[in-house]
Amino acid sequence: MDHFLYRDGILHAEDVPLTEVAAAVGTPFYCYSTATLTRHFRLFDEALAGTDHLVCYAMKANSNQAVLTLMARLGAGADVVSGGEYARALAAGFPGDKIVFSGVGKTRAEMRAALTGGIRQFNLESEPEMEALNEVALSLGTVAPVTVRVNPDVDARTHEKIATGKSENKFGIPISRAREVYARAAALPGLRVVGIDVHIGSQLTDLEPYGQAFDKVAELTRALRADGHDIRRLDLGGGLGIPYERSNTAPPLPVEYGALVKEKLGHLSCEIEIEPGRLIAGNAGLLVAQVIYVKSGEGRDFVILDAAMNDLVRPAMYGAWHDIVPVVEPAPGVAPRPYDVVGPVCESGDTFAKQRNLPPIAAGDLVAFRSAGAYGAVMASEYNSRPLIPEVLVKDGNFGLVRQRPSYEDLIARDTIPEWL
Ligand code: LLP
Repeated sequence: MDHFLYRDGILHAEDVPLTEVAAAVGTPFYCYSTATLTRHFRLFDEALAGTDHLVCYAMKANSNQAVLTLMARLGAGADVVSGGEYARALAAGFPGDKIVFSGVGKTRAEMRAALTGGIRQFNLESEPEMEALNEVALSLGTVAPVTVRVNPDVDARTHEKIATGKSENKFGIPISRAREVYARAAALPGLRVVGIDVHIGSQLTDLEPYGQAFDKVAELTRALRADGHDIRRLDLGGGLGIPYERSNTAPPLPVEYGALVKEKLGHLSCEIEIEPGRLIAGNAGLLVAQVIYVKSGEGRDFVILDAAMNDLVRPAMYGAWHDIVPVVEPAPGVAPRPYDVVGPVCESGDTFAKQRNLPPIAAGDLVAFRSAGAYGAVMASEYNSRPLIPEVLVKDGNFGLVRQRPSYEDLIARDTIPEWL
């Protein structure tokens, strides 16, 4: 469920007509709903009620400071994967003891920053990384709380670019080697083992792979405890999928996912951490664009938007589907027509949808891409010297610009010309 509905023939974000936002900030822009973000966080929190748990928002999905501030105020933890995300998390008010640091290549500088600023745990992904963190912690006279990310070798049945739990993926250590690696971690004086971490992929639309991974984690918990390790936390990663295409069957709900977590792992008396990103932010955001031209090609019509692949790269990168809807509701009974929806960037990959059935579209119309709140703005670039687009947050009848559109001058001023040129 989200809070983007037609009212009086205009698509609204909560109580704000998107036409009003477009007039105020120009197009294209991202628009997020506070109510949807809040609701989605609470769905996870409630799904794990009765179990000691922390929902660590995977901020890679949407790391706007306003979104992070909202999450921190709701009581979420944060899952960060870089020094930049760590700095954003602290700035948004997440306490250090609610921040988990994931990622396959943490640098020593990132480790130092997190150990100094406060951290709940590092999710380590390799032995060299373990040695590095040990050294950094000792040099700071501290001990780093750690889990090891295990790769359970299960097929998440998702897009190959976002599956992470197969043995051929770069993530974690093979679960078959876990006991050996944990023994090494326990022997390092700068590390304190607190649990196990697993994340098998993103946009999972089926609980079965989770079930397989959780069974393996439960077995490993028993084995590691028998080896003398203090396993009291299980970080289960993120990955629960969202319905991108409204006509398709919906993926499992957080409450079903929570029930599976409890069924498979509840008896271990561990604290449960989860790292959802997409399900919290995805359907809490739209990308709104304006039609520049409608052009008739040979056998097809192209809708050319002022948004492009640099603003929302998911269709070009993963062949991802985003529902596209007009901001002004079409009259009932109007027959849809097939369009290729494209951006102005100079490559054919800059295509959002091919032969998509849409109500008749004309230049000047506003359209909205649904499910664009996660992995939208955060993956944007300034390719073709198109400045990053603004982000707007709505709450009830209020809207605020939470990221400004840079000017061309800003863009140019970021570069410097060496005096020897
Ligand atoms: N935890 C870890 C360690 C992760 O690597 C990820 C996502 C998450 C949590 C959050 O997963 P989520 O709940 O959002 O599925 N750019 C891609 C998605 C990449 C996901 C990367 N890792 C896309 O646009 O589909």
